[in-house]
Amino acid sequence: MTAKLLLLGGTTEASQLARLLADQGADAVYSYAGRVASPKAQPLPTRVGGFGGVAGLVQYLREHSITHVVDATHPFAAQMSWNAYEACGQLGVALCALTRPAWQAVEGDRWQHVEDIQGAVASLQGVPKRVLLALGKLNLPAFVAQPQHHYVLRLVDTPDVAPPLPHHIVIVARGPFDLAGDRALMQSHDIDVVVCKNAGGIGAEAKLHAARELGLPVVMIDRPALPPRSEISSAEAVLQHLGL
Ligand SMILES: NC(=O)c1ccc[n+]([C@@H]2O[C@H](COP(=O)([O-])OP(=O)(O)OC[C@H]3O[C@@H](n4cnc5c(N)ncnc54)[C@H](OP(=O)(O)O)[C@@H]3O)[C@@H](O)[C@H]2O)c1
Repeated sequence: MTAKLLLLGGTTEASQLARLLADQGADAVYSYAGRVASPKAQPLPTRVGGFGGVAGLVQYLREHSITHVVDATHPFAAQMSWNAYEACGQLGVALCALTRPAWQAVEGDRWQHVEDIQGAVASLQGVPKRVLLALGKLNLPAFVAQPQHHYVLRLVDTPDVAPPLPHHIVIVARGPFDLAGDRALMQSHDIDVVVCKNAGGIGAEAKLHAARELGLPVVMIDRPALPPRSEISSAEAVLQHLGL
């Protein structure tokens, strides 16, 4: 049976793997959730939108005779990763994940670890500050509970609906970001604290270097629990794993 791959994407690493798969002439489909208005074009046939939970994914895998799923979603896309784990388990479809190690604090970092978004919100209790929220739009409403702050929101798209935060500014920008740009952003907005997820990888790492240089505290949201699966840390190694 020839391999037919489903690549669950939405990350820089997934785009790298898509390029390699296309170069190999692999029979593969790239899947986007559909969160971003104009997602990056991929060199593979692309589908957009949720599958409809585990049952929907099982149906998709069957209908498209998928033999392998590569989960290259963001480490915070835990729902998708668990769905893939369960659906592949039900059908005996091979599953592996393209993952990136979590960021680790180094000397000079002032990180406060929190478990989740609610923990990040709670950590902001207190006097008004200028907060860089480097989080997706879906996470913003939770911060209404701390309305005293001025929030600088860095988002991929201009929001359709104004974020529900009384004092905020939206900066539309798509990574990868660099140190000079992130340092300038923090300085020009007079940032007191940075809130972000422990995404890992290089595309969004510059803000941590900038915060360290400027001596700013970082509220670091730790990763959610992910399913047990083969984890591979480079796109090239995924090809090897797949025998391509
Ligand atoms: N979470 C983040 O911080 C973050 C950051 C950067 C990029 N992303 C990317 O954004 C997408 C959505 O992330 P999320 O955190 O909202 O995911 P999530 O909470 O784990 O997933 C929620 C639902 O969205 C659908 N979905 C997620 N990823 C999908 C994909 N690649 N293809 C098709 N459907 C997908 C699934 O819907 P059904 O149940 O209907 O199948 C899933 O159950 C992912 O592709 C992820 O890689 C996420």
